[in-house]
Amino acid sequence: MKKIVLNLIACAVAFPSFATETLTSPDGNIKLTFDLTKAGVPEYTVQYHGKPVILPSTLGFEIKDEAPLTSGFKQGKPVFTSVDETWAPVWGENDSIVNKYNQMTVPLTQKADGMTRKMNIVFRAYDDGIGFRYEFPAQKWKGFTIADEASQMAMTGDHTAWWIPGDYDTQEYKYTRSRLSEIRATSEGARMHNLSQTGFSPTGVQTSLMLKTDDGLYINLHEAALIDYPAMHLNLDDTNMVFTSWLTPDINGDKAVVTTPFKTPWRTVMVSDKATDILASDLILNLNDPCVLDDTSWIHPTKYMGVWWEMITNKSSWAYCDAENFDLATFDYSKATPNNRHGANNDNVRRYIDFAAEAGMDQLLIEGWNIGWEDWSGKEKEYVFDFLTPYPDFDIAALNDYAKSKGIKLMMHHETSGSIPNYEKYIDRAYDLMNHYGYDAVKSGYVGNILPKGENHYNQKSVRHYLECVKKAADKHIMVNGHEAVRPTGLCRTYPNLVGNESACGTEYQSFGGLPTAHVTILPFTRLQGGPMDYTPGIFRMNLSEFAPGNTSHVNSTVANQLALYLTMYSPLQMAADFPEHYAEKADAFQFIKDVPVDWSKSVYIDAEPGEFIVVARKDKKSDDWYVGGVNAEDSREFTLNLDFLDPSKTYEATIYSDTDDAHYLTNPESYQITRRKAGASSVMKLHMAPGGGFAISLKEI
Ligand code: NOJ
Ligand code: CA
Repeated sequence: MKKIVLNLIACAVAFPSFATETLTSPDGNIKLTFDLTKAGVPEYTVQYHGKPVILPSTLGFEIKDEAPLTSGFKQGKPVFTSVDETWAPVWGENDSIVNKYNQMTVPLTQKADGMTRKMNIVFRAYDDGIGFRYEFPAQKWKGFTIADEASQMAMTGDHTAWWIPGDYDTQEYKYTRSRLSEIRATSEGARMHNLSQTGFSPTGVQTSLMLKTDDGLYINLHEAALIDYPAMHLNLDDTNMVFTSWLTPDINGDKAVVTTPFKTPWRTVMVSDKATDILASDLILNLNDPCVLDDTSWIHPTKYMGVWWEMITNKSSWAYCDAENFDLATFDYSKATPNNRHGANNDNVRRYIDFAAEAGMDQLLIEGWNIGWEDWSGKEKEYVFDFLTPYPDFDIAALNDYAKSKGIKLMMHHETSGSIPNYEKYIDRAYDLMNHYGYDAVKSGYVGNILPKGENHYNQKSVRHYLECVKKAADKHIMVNGHEAVRPTGLCRTYPNLVGNESACGTEYQSFGGLPTAHVTILPFTRLQGGPMDYTPGIFRMNLSEFAPGNTSHVNSTVANQLALYLTMYSPLQMAADFPEHYAEKADAFQFIKDVPVDWSKSVYIDAEPGEFIVVARKDKKSDDWYVGGVNAEDSREFTLNLDFLDPSKTYEATIYSDTDDAHYLTNPESYQITRRKAGASSVMKLHMAPGGGFAISLKEI
């Protein structure tokens, strides 16, 4: 009897419906429609101010060894809800964030393989974009393996895109700007790996993807809350300009193993006619769950220096000696001959501690402190580091005490060399060692192929690993900055101890051949959408061969551009990456790095264009001071800065760090000027931005 009643209820809710459901953003500018086609295929569209942004696009999944979850759906009555709330991030670009949206949950059922399978699609409309996710409620269908997700995003034309090619292991690519139709032929975007054997399209790209339509709409495609699921790429059908989700496979070619109840990450589409709205958007953060940590008092924005750039430029080495046929398990360091190039030695570390403390830094990162660097990369060795044993010339207890006596902390470094099994074996002891000596932040890294062999950086298993590390770290009050991990998707809202990631070409590439000047004008539109990047700015000496013998690379940036990055590349973790002696040479410019805050109460994106320039103003969280940064790409630019964001009742002393008229990232990169003047809300400044240049301004209340 009970069974019959339940079946009747199921019939009552699962009625066929061909009516279009509509969801609008709170301001009414964005409209999303949902339909089931006659074949029961879920389909949605998005419009902005009445203009199509996403043409009819279908949704669903291919399921391994089971019927596809793509058609034959019946629809229940959608549930509409609205939220208008304000929340305060632990750290951020603003001290409060408005989370205001309308939501529509569409319940769907499908009869297949002798059962009724339930899937809800949840759509949210914000004023600056939409998100949707799939939910599988608790049901008789206990679990399944996703062979692929078939979420389409159909474009309205051959848009301009700023893209990096699809890859299961890295986002460390330079961006290509091209039409969508040109992606296939653009050799610059050549892939590091041939992915076609896994079904990856030659026109596949990574998210966050930035697009611009010919009539001036800025569109950004990405994902939010990537948890227990593989990272999503987008395969492009470049005849019809339709993107389809492409999930990163595991070693067996499977995408995701799912147990109901389950929710996928959100798929996101931001849209605006202003580029600055994309930069200012909180959509990705808002789609993530609120903070789950009870106590966040130990999490703090951090400005740091590092014994790092010397290894990256090849002035010194991570390794203590040069060893052949190296096996960490049997190698005897007490008998080894030092190579005399080891950067993380006691004297050098003390020198950095002295300078960093004097400069008011919070922390000092030391790479190459631990044994194993003699043979760590590209060998796919399981046991490569133990994360516990310092080199003979790195006195971990004494150096931590010394740093503490000077009022700063050391920052830990865990390079895993991609050996996830090894890191998981040691991580508890490694974090305990940090607690023991008083380290509260770790930079972790996953250089090289992921082990076990055949796995990769972005599949479900690896995604689980990165989050497990962040959760474990939170339990031990450790902040995490993960390099080479999966690109962020706003999880720092839920776990604010995830203070940074790399997941793109950072400053190190200036030492590996150089970066295009446009790079830093694109990253905030793409990589930074998911969360802060440990970009490591602050380089003051651009010709590396002058101090790193044999390094012929050149930093494609002016000094003023380097200063501006502290504003334009938002992060609660900012490095002053250059050497103490280089800062001492340009102490007047270094003053800006000393002054610039790393936490903000308010941010105002003043003007921007991807690939061209970005100008942003931010207000210090601890005072009424403001800071402004502008970065510029290849063409010189005269920028008129209106200071109307300032408090009209206050007067400020402005210190302006800018390019000289003859500055140029290639020919005259270290030429800058510093001027001072009084300023207020009615002030207007004319600023020259050199090729690869920019400006940085501090505005201190007087
Ligand atoms: C690559 C990282 O991006 C870099 O910052 C680090 O120094 C090296 N790996 C070594 O771990
Ligand atoms: Ca890297």
